[in-house]
Formats: sequence, structure tokens, C-alpha cells
Amino acid sequence: MTAANTTETNPSVELAGASLDVPETYPEIEVRVELETRSYDIIVRRHIIRNLGAEIVNNLGLPDGQGRTAAVLINPKVDHYYGQDIYNSLKDAGFTPLPIVLVAGECYKTLQTARRIYRTLYEKSVDRRTLIIAVGGGVIGDVAGFVAATYQRGLDFIQVPTTLLAQVDSSVGGKVGVNFEHGKNLIGAFYQPKLVLIDPSTLNSLPHRERRSGLAEIIKYGAIYDEGFYKNVDNDVIGLLRLTSTYLESAIARSCQIKAEVVAQDERENGLRAILNFGHSVGHALESLTGYHVYRHGEAIAVGMVSAALIGEELGITPPSVTSTLVDTLTKARFPIGLDERLYINDIVSLLSLDKKAIAGNVRFVLLNALGHATPGHEVPEEIVRAALQRQRGF
Ligand SMILES: NC(=O)c1ccc[n+]([C@@H]2O[C@H](COP(=O)([O-])OP(=O)(O)OC[C@H]3O[C@@H](n4cnc5c(N)ncnc54)[C@H](O)[C@@H]3O)[C@@H](O)[C@H]2O)c1
Ligand SMILES: [Zn+2]
Repeated sequence: MTAANTTETNPSVELAGASLDVPETYPEIEVRVELETRSYDIIVRRHIIRNLGAEIVNNLGLPDGQGRTAAVLINPKVDHYYGQDIYNSLKDAGFTPLPIVLVAGECYKTLQTARRIYRTLYEKSVDRRTLIIAVGGGVIGDVAGFVAATYQRGLDFIQVPTTLLAQVDSSVGGKVGVNFEHGKNLIGAFYQPKLVLIDPSTLNSLPHRERRSGLAEIIKYGAIYDEGFYKNVDNDVIGLLRLTSTYLESAIARSCQIKAEVVAQDERENGLRAILNFGHSVGHALESLTGYHVYRHGEAIAVGMVSAALIGEELGITPPSVTSTLVDTLTKARFPIGLDERLYINDIVSLLSLDKKAIAGNVRFVLLNALGHATPGHEVPEEIVRAALQRQRGF
């Protein structure tokens, strides 16, 4: 991660009755994702979307937009807040913006939506130089990436994530796809973007629960990979949630960097990449058992991280002090951490055995050996899982 240059913006400031254009600087942090010929940059800077077109031109080493079509996939709310800035900046840089506004929601992460996008691209006679730009949360990013990977065997793809979850997780790593029938992400590909532009100021319009959902993934990165980072996040967890923390850009960038480092070592999830699923086994079970309506993803992951810590304790792998640190941090941010008494342990356990992380019937867990260090692939006997979940009832 290079704490690189700063950039200037010109907010209007009221001073003694006069309106002055005072330059204000925002830190910019760049993270390089090293994947040989598929390497790319992630740039984190407040208000970067106002210069989106210029950033793309500079970063892709183009003289200008050259009239290329820039298809912007976006939800109505995000379009309302940020669309105009984005289209103006694309035009200014010489691109031809093509907004494609898609209804928000996980239930639209489907082949039908992909088909609708293909049709628009086809009707506009879009050629292979077209850029696909995903502006939004993980749903937009996943479906836009899937279209980019498949339309005309691959178009250049740029991610502009606007939820905290998308900024620290889904926009990095190259997994793209859609849901099919009852299977989440059943149809998809590994397809890396050319560039990820992260504007933390877009989080101001994001509802509190959505922000907290992303924060769970940030806490996860610290827990599995970097104790120092964990402590920094813990020190300012409320400020991060309220977006008042000066550590916000760093927390986003370090999260991306950790994901990028893990993905660079294991792009197709044959081993290490599984540590990113810490907390996700029980988390996914809770989401599924409650029909995806009760928990935001990060809330379910918070509960799941505590389950995994307790399972690790039962096995003598996770020190109890690590569990209590995790519980403290999550409690400060007001995450749910106990197991709701309306959920049956039997149901959770049977879902865990069906989970794709179970190989040949044995449930496998990512466990913490220490704060900042996780190992994947622990086969856990069912009685241990039950004992840990039973303990979690009391939280
Ligand atoms: N590809 C991956 O590696 C990966 C990783 C994790 C999650 N995911 C996927 O990500 C999806 C979840 O993403 P999500 O949590 O970002 O939810 P989401 O994409 O559904 O977005 C949540 C809501 O917030 C709105 N929104 C987005 N940005 C906003 C802003 N700045 N201000 C106001 N509203 C805004 C959206 O329109 C939407 O209504 C799931 O489909 C999940 O499978 C993918
Ligand atoms: Zn997750």
C-alpha cells in the first residue's frame, strides 16, 4: 500500500460573509493487486467520483476517452446521488456515458438482469472497446462483472463500489456472478477489473446498518490477518461506523490490501483464500435460515465469527482472550453476537453439512490460532459445533 499523493478539491467555504474557494486535501491511498497480467490498482480517495473519467484515462494509460462507450450500471438511488457527477466527468474525459439503471436488490442478481444488460449493449451496437463501470454495492458489482466477463468474450471492467461491503470486499478479488434458482452465486466467473475506484464520501448516504454490515468484514480482516490493524480498527470502531474517523481511508485500503494479498496467493480458492470465509459458515446458515430478511450479511458474519471463536476454544486452538477481544469489539459496534433462541441448533448444524465448505460430509471451519492469524480447513466434529453454539446461546 503506498500512501501516495494527495489531491485537491474546491469546496465552497463561508468566511466572514464571503464565499471562498478554499482548497482542501484528501489523502489518497493506492493498493496494487498483483495478479501477473491481470494486475490492477485500487485507489481510495474521498470525492474521487467527481474525477472518475480523468482517473480512468490516467490509470489505463489512455490519451483520452476516445469516444469509447462507458456503460454505467447503477441503482436508482445511487444514480440520484452520484449519477450526474459521474456522467459529467466521463463526458469531460471524452467517454460516451451510457447509464443503465437497474432496480436494487439481491433478487435481481439474476440471468434475467444480465440478459437485460446484454440487450441494451446489443441495441446500442456497443463494440469491444466498451467499458463496463459498476457503480454501487456488491449486487451491481457482481452482475456487472458477470456481464463484462461474458459479453463479446470480455469487456474492460471498472468497479466503483459505493457500499462499505463492496469497498472492502466484493469489488476486490475478481469473483463475479449471478444467483440461479435457490443457489447464491451459482453461475459466475473469475474476472478481474482493470481498476477499482473507491470514494469513501459516498458512504454518507448509506444507511447505518449497511455501513455496519461492511464494518464486520473490516473487523474480520484484522482478526484473520493483522493484529495491529485489528487494534487500530478496535480503537476507533465507533468513528468508523459514523464515518468521522480519520482512519477510514486507511481501514478501507488495508482491508482491500489484505484481501488482495490473500487472493494473489490463491486466486481460485484452493487453500489460503478460504480464510476470508472466517465467520461465514455459521453466518451463511443464519442468513439462509432467516430467509435473508433478518440479518444484514455483516450482522450474520458477526454472530458467525463468535461461533467460530467458540468452536476454536472448544478445540483448544483459539485462546479465550481472543474470543473476548472479538466479542468486545463487536459489542462496541452493537453487533448481535448471541444466537437467537428462535433458531434451532439442529437446523444450523444440518445447513452447515450442506455448505459448500463441507467436503465429504465433514464440516470444515476457519479458526483463529491467535488474534491476526487464521488457518482454514479444520474438520470439526458435530458435538463440538453443538457445544459451542449452545454456549453462544448465553451471550
Ligand atoms: N464478489 C465477491 O467477492 C463478493 C463478496 C462479498 C459479497 N458479495 C455479494 O455482494 C452482495 C451484497 O452487496 P451489498 O451489501 O453491497 O448490497 P447491495 O449491493 O444490495 O446494496 C445495498 C443497497 O444499498 C444501496 N446503495 C449502494 N450504495 C449506496 C450509497 N452510497 N448510498 C445509498 N444507498 C446505496 C443499493 O442500491 C442497495 O439498495 C451480495 O450479492 C453478495 O453475494 C460478493
Ligand atoms: Zn462476507
